[in-house]
Amino acid sequence: MANLEELQKKIASVRKAIQSESSGLSDSKTVYELRKSFLDKAGRVGQLMKYMKEVDPSQRAEFGKQVNELKGWALDYFNSLDEKMRKEELNRIYEREKIDITMPSHIRSHGNLHPVTQVRNQLIEVFSGMGFEIYEGTEVENDYYNFTALNTPKDHPARDMQDTFYLSPEFVLRTQTSSAQIHVMENEKPPIKILSPGKVFRSDDDATHSPMFSQMEGLVVDKGITLGDLQGMLDVFVKKVFGQETRTRLRPSYFPFTEPSVEVDVSCFECGGKGCSFCKHTGWIEVLGAGIVNRKVLENCGIDPDVYSGFAFGIGIERVAMLKYGINNIKQLFESDLRVLNQINDR
Ligand code: PHE
Repeated sequence: MANLEELQKKIASVRKAIQSESSGLSDSKTVYELRKSFLDKAGRVGQLMKYMKEVDPSQRAEFGKQVNELKGWALDYFNSLDEKMRKEELNRIYEREKIDITMPSHIRSHGNLHPVTQVRNQLIEVFSGMGFEIYEGTEVENDYYNFTALNTPKDHPARDMQDTFYLSPEFVLRTQTSSAQIHVMENEKPPIKILSPGKVFRSDDDATHSPMFSQMEGLVVDKGITLGDLQGMLDVFVKKVFGQETRTRLRPSYFPFTEPSVEVDVSCFECGGKGCSFCKHTGWIEVLGAGIVNRKVLENCGIDPDVYSGFAFGIGIERVAMLKYGINNIKQLFESDLRVLNQINDR
């Protein structure tokens, strides 16, 4: 028969073992393993019950109670140890993943679209909203598409209006996107409604002219198209691009491929038309050339001018950009100076 006192020593030594064996542990996994070794069915706490049969029957209840107390204590002990370990583990993770927000960062600069591209996109958006389709022509053209078919045969004085880069007697760098009109009319039957943006080239170089610049050609051909249709469409266009207050004015002009031809002015968006230095005190700013497609041009493309008529217009994209953003030298649009380009971001 084991006496109760001796068994109480065993109980106390298991308690001590729990405390000493757990003292060096530093993570929840080893705590879990240790807990199992004491509290599992075959664990060292449970094993104490083996002695029950050796205890005097009068003391068994007391012994059982003390073993149960140890079990209760051990459960609490391991639970709080586990909690402590998990907290420490979390802290270690936080520490490891800490971000030093005082560290100097890499400054990433944002690019934006070139002003000419911005204006080009704006114009395309406005006109495609009106149902225009995009046709992109080629920068190298033959003489026929750039001039002859546009009612500007050789020796026509109007050829002098544009200083042409000839690549050969037959081929030129196109001087105008109007050449696109011919390609489209040769290949499509009316109704036609196209927009043709692209680069054009002229031997011309000063503050407002560059040897390479961009134009956008518009062409509408259908039955019964008049100058009134052109003006109505232009009114919508200039209001969208230059502001709701803007008005248009058509002045007579001359282009061989349109008859009548007009120069389109918009009321000055700086002074509202009163006259200022921006509009050279006229109240108006010239923005594009346009007109009713010359009968001869329709005929050249196999379209019957007695049945169909059309209007055409050509907008200088750099010119619109210069007007919109107050740029007074066209070179600033080609020098890629970020101090200039960064100031212009419409979207
Ligand atoms: N092609 C003309 C130019 O370059 C502009 C224009 C286009 C005029 C269409 C009338 C019709 O100046």
